[in-house]
Amino acid sequence: MTNAARIIAVANQKGGVGKTTTTINLGAALAELGQSVLLIDLDPQGNASTGLGIGPQMRAVTTYDFLAGDATPDEAIQPTTVPRLSIIPATTDLSSADIELISNEKRSFLLHDALRQLPMDRFGFDYILIDCPPSLNILTVNAMVAAHSVIVPLQSEFFALEGLSQLMLTIREVRQTANTSLRIAGVVLTMYDRRNNLSQQVEADARENLGALVFTTVIPRNVRLSEAPSFAMPALTYDSQSAGSQAYRQLARELMAKDNPQLQKVS
Ligand SMILES: Nc1ncnc2c1ncn2[C@@H]1O[C@H](COP(=O)(O)OP(=O)(O)OP(=O)(O)O)[C@@H](O)[C@H]1O
Ligand SMILES: [Mg+2]
Repeated sequence: MTNAARIIAVANQKGGVGKTTTTINLGAALAELGQSVLLIDLDPQGNASTGLGIGPQMRAVTTYDFLAGDATPDEAIQPTTVPRLSIIPATTDLSSADIELISNEKRSFLLHDALRQLPMDRFGFDYILIDCPPSLNILTVNAMVAAHSVIVPLQSEFFALEGLSQLMLTIREVRQTANTSLRIAGVVLTMYDRRNNLSQQVEADARENLGALVFTTVIPRNVRLSEAPSFAMPALTYDSQSAGSQAYRQLARELMAKDNPQLQKVS
């Protein structure tokens, strides 16, 4: 592990809020900005793998093998069609049930330990983004134990803030036990519709309750973001100038500026 690598879990136990879309497009945007990025698909659904063109036939070595210690980083990491963006893909064998079967006291540390294997140094990643499943199960806990910080996508819909307290509780538990320095990198509003009062209300509520934790950048509801995965590419490749692509570029810049305060002056 290089000291510079920032490990970020993209998590929310609520389904369909934009975790995978955020992981793929934030990853692509960071790569576009010259960062070397590894995306870890930690969801048995394998949506991030599919969305980046790693079809089932290309998933001989998966995140499960990496966690179980059956694959080295060399064997597990694959390039994508996006320069500087690599991935460890997932298949359904990465079910939490399978992980529970691993007779290991340190079951929550599998990803942490796998990422801190010495050979990881050689890859020189600047960012490692982990796409979590829609659950607060052992997989998501593994991501939080391995990560420096968490990005929480929040769908701009009614009930968006419900369930957030449960997520915050899990983060606090991990912080009190396995990973004392875990931070929240930020909450990002997704599928935002400016013409919709509800979106504006959710945004106002989120900013009032969570303050500076909420990214200034908001991701709009944009059809290009939902179309891109079926073409096996990030929206940034599929339609570079779309509102969705521009928003994820802005998010990447905001994230990098948060990580490097001296960049704030120029961004
Ligand atoms: N900003 C957006 N605009 C339009 N569609 C979006 C946007 N973000 C995500 N979507 C679409 O919404 C659906 C859910 O998004 P996504 O798969 O990223 O959520 P998720 O949180 O990863 O879901 P899961 O919990 O199942 O893993 C997908 O069909 C995706 O293409
Ligand atoms: Mg997903």
